Amino acid sequence: MATPTGNAQTVVYVGDSRVARPTKVHVPRDYMAYPGKSETFIPNFLLKEWMVGSVVLVGFLVLVVMHPAPLGYPADPTNSAFIPMPDWYFLFLYQLLKYPYLSEQFVVLGTVLIPGLAFTALTLIPFLDRTPERRFTKRPVPTMMMLLSLAAIVYLTWVSWDHYQHELKAKNIIPEHIAREQEMHAKKQAGGGTGGDQPEPAPVKVAAIVDADDAAYKEVYMKATCVQCHGAQLKGNGPIPGLLGIGDKYNAEQIMDIIRNGIGGMGAQYDANISMGLTDQNLEDLAAWLAKQKATP
Ligand code: HEC
Repeated sequence: MATPTGNAQTVVYVGDSRVARPTKVHVPRDYMAYPGKSETFIPNFLLKEWMVGSVVLVGFLVLVVMHPAPLGYPADPTNSAFIPMPDWYFLFLYQLLKYPYLSEQFVVLGTVLIPGLAFTALTLIPFLDRTPERRFTKRPVPTMMMLLSLAAIVYLTWVSWDHYQHELKAKNIIPEHIAREQEMHAKKQAGGGTGGDQPEPAPVKVAAIVDADDAAYKEVYMKATCVQCHGAQLKGNGPIPGLLGIGDKYNAEQIMDIIRNGIGGMGAQYDANISMGLTDQNLEDLAAWLAKQKATP
């Protein structure tokens, strides 16, 4: 800048490297000040964001389809040793509701007001925190708020989990999924097991009918007196015992003896069957077939 003086001399002040230039207030310049280095938000930038978003979403969907979430175990309403817990990312909210001044008659405070305020504040950040300064050290208030929220979430989650563990210990409960996991590992180490995390069907205690195609079943048993009491599927009926797996208990001679002489509350069956047209050989075959009915082949 030039300053005219009395004797018409012109003094020109030039920059002095020893004098620090006054720092300008940092205001980010408009994107148009960087032609070729920047772009408009709408539509260029947004379009790119959308593309990336779609790729991530599709990738995510593919993963979800490829690895379906395993079904949990069926709920057991009789299980009184069950402590209901939310998923880990909701533990802090869950813990919040355990405090007396946020539950019971104040429950609206704990369920709606405080979480509502927190999430509203999160939404309003761009409008509240308007300083152009980007460094978090230069924005103490929002930074402190964020750190406080994070600390609160971490603390509440930890307290909640700690409380849960104490409760388990005090009541001597092993959570069902952990108990099953241990069981599965034990089974795996014993050599058996499918290794899946689905519960295995309970082993069938009573065997199915062995040799169901045998004529002794279709032609004799079904026509004999036996079927009326012991059932077409050999399952018995109320107080009448089933005959599935009967071969584990008696051999063919013993069963023939039961047919001839009865057993306990069952009277002799031999004559009744002979008079119905079955032969002695039929009954021998039947006894032999029944002796083959073993629960453990
Ligand atoms: C009137 C009904 C009735 C008929 C018909 C009948 N049973 Fe029975 N059976 C029973 C009852 C009841 C028992 C249980 C007796 C007891 O243990 O007190 C039994 C028991 C048996 C048992 C021993 C079961 C066990 O677990 O110890 C055998 C084997 C048997 N029956 C075979 C036969 C055969 C074979 C026939 C056909 C030839 C037959 N029963 C017909 C009622 C019947």
